[in-house]
Amino acid sequence: MDKPHPIAEVQSLSAGFGGRSVLEDINLDIHEGEILVVLGKSGCGKSTLLKHMVGLLKPSAGSVRLFGIDIFAADEPEMVEVLKKVGVLFQYGALLNSLYVHENVAIPLEQHTDVPPSVIRRLVEAKLGLVRLTGTGHLLPSELSGGMRKRAALARALALDPDILFADEPSAGLDPMTTAHQDDLLLELREDLGMTMVVVTHELASIHRIADRIAFLEDKKILFLGTVSDAKGCGVEIVEEFFRMGTFA
Ligand SMILES: Nc1ncnc2c1ncn2[C@@H]1O[C@H](COP(=O)(O)OP(=O)(O)OP(=O)(O)O)[C@@H](O)[C@H]1O
Ligand SMILES: [Mg+2]
Repeated sequence: MDKPHPIAEVQSLSAGFGGRSVLEDINLDIHEGEILVVLGKSGCGKSTLLKHMVGLLKPSAGSVRLFGIDIFAADEPEMVEVLKKVGVLFQYGALLNSLYVHENVAIPLEQHTDVPPSVIRRLVEAKLGLVRLTGTGHLLPSELSGGMRKRAALARALALDPDILFADEPSAGLDPMTTAHQDDLLLELREDLGMTMVVVTHELASIHRIADRIAFLEDKKILFLGTVSDAKGCGVEIVEEFFRMGTFA
């Protein structure tokens, strides 16, 4: 069987803020249909990497290809086409508090499609169903629980039926049971829709449940890239220790 082609490719990417380097020479391929977990200590650059992978931040060197297109060399129409196939759930992926849940989920559809309002309403309800929030569209974000808010933000990220989903700490701050449900939901989306995912999390239980591969970031680099079972015996002390202790040294 042919090796699946990478949906996303990060090549020799270096990045930082105001002359301070955060990532150096990062190389990473994301394969179609996989769930790749990005982990590493707080402040190591996980969110920064994700933001570069979706074109929100421009690297100081290197490139990112999504669906074969170099996103920092792409023109505006190309970029719009690429971004239609990308869903993003930000770490502090706030819903707009003054808008109802259904209005929040409709935003990408209104911005990127010419779909009439009646169809948008049906699509929004379908997305809410997908994340098990049927019937909550008329509520305000403040009327949802923390787990429900995360799922509503996920519904918005899924609005355009992305081929790849980038999710930054989709279950941070949730209790273990809700986290497990959130993980099941991601696994279902992958199973049912064939979605590829890049997920930032440092919950060990989640990593065991969802990760096909992990990318372990440390000191600006990817210290380890591979499966969880390989990580446990990879010989890199800080990686092995994380899998023994469930926390970073
Ligand atoms: N917009 C910004 N301007 C300046 N520095 C930033 C900016 N965003 C992030 N940084 C810095 O870059 C480094 C990496 O931040 P990043 O948010 O990517 O870490 P992280 O791995 O996602 O951490 P956490 O697990 O806490 O979410 C940190 O030192 C942070 O202070
Ligand atoms: Mg982060």
